Amino acid sequence: MGNIYSNIYSFNNKMLKKTVNSLKRGNIAGLPTETVYGLAGNAYSKSAVKKIFKLKKRPKKNPLIVHYYDLKFIHGDILVNQYFRRLYRKFCPGPITFILRKKKNSKIGSLVTANLSTVAIRFPKHKIARAVLKSLNFPLAMPSANLSSGLSPVNASDVFDEFKNKLKIIIDGGKSKFGIESTVIDLTGIPRILRPGIISSDKIKKTLKINLSNKKTKIKSPGMLKKHYSPGIPVILNKKPTNQKHAFIFFGKKYKKKENYFCLSKKSNLSEAASNLYKIMRNIKRKGYKKIFVSKIPNRGLGIAINDRLKRSAS
Ligand code: TXA
Ligand code: MG
Repeated sequence: MGNIYSNIYSFNNKMLKKTVNSLKRGNIAGLPTETVYGLAGNAYSKSAVKKIFKLKKRPKKNPLIVHYYDLKFIHGDILVNQYFRRLYRKFCPGPITFILRKKKNSKIGSLVTANLSTVAIRFPKHKIARAVLKSLNFPLAMPSANLSSGLSPVNASDVFDEFKNKLKIIIDGGKSKFGIESTVIDLTGIPRILRPGIISSDKIKKTLKINLSNKKTKIKSPGMLKKHYSPGIPVILNKKPTNQKHAFIFFGKKYKKKENYFCLSKKSNLSEAASNLYKIMRNIKRKGYKKIFVSKIPNRGLGIAINDRLKRSAS
């Protein structure tokens, strides 16, 4: 039957109604998406958005992603362009977030966007997230469901670990399919990746048939601030541990099994590695290890997103 958590529910029609009603009342819920679990609230409600920042202890200068069911719902809020249309057609719904300009009369408030003139929008593919969005007449502000600067949750119980009973509803959608966050791409000028993710820059380049900008001047995405994705213990890259109190994360078949060794993918598959990364790091922390050492991960395809997260978690 049920589980040991009083606020984790499996999904059915009754639970859909309950969740939708709770969100309509301005509450915050933990929801599964295909990337990681999110902390969802009415993006048009200032008080709901405030609750999200407070729960996460998120700095006010770090804006949230607004999640929509589909294209039809964004027109009052967002100015679109050709790049967006092409990428939407190819990848949505799916694990990609677009930075676009906010319309003058947009119902998205300045707290969501940290006073920027732009908005991050995403159309999640997960069937539970979509069922909830479809039943609402507002989009959902939904950052990853972790305390600011921590690891994104990839299971309902991870969300519970972060917020305990501060959430009334966490919907259990099983382990997140991708296990790492969406790609964030700025489309307000020459398209530029702000956060590498599930959809690679190569695929985006092919779709748009242009070269992406790699301008690195100022930090445009506050989530790109260095300290982020931290498991709460030191992470050391490209080194092996010298004792049993420290865990070791590696990729492929290079090392023999040991108690403190954790493999991201025996088959050397980068999607599998990405989907295991946060799960393994959380597990290592739970087991009481004091440090995490990580061997080199190939820097191609999804390896680029993995190395981005590892670098930030190590800083
Ligand atoms: O996969 C995902 O994107 C997950 C799921 C739940 O959808 N969400 C997620 O949200 O990762 P969050 O808040 O953890 O990360 C959002 C990132 C942050 O780095 C934030 O700074 C950036 O998007 N962002 C949001 N609005 C922005 C804007 N207007 N301009 C630039 N960056 C923005
Ligand atoms: Mg996050």
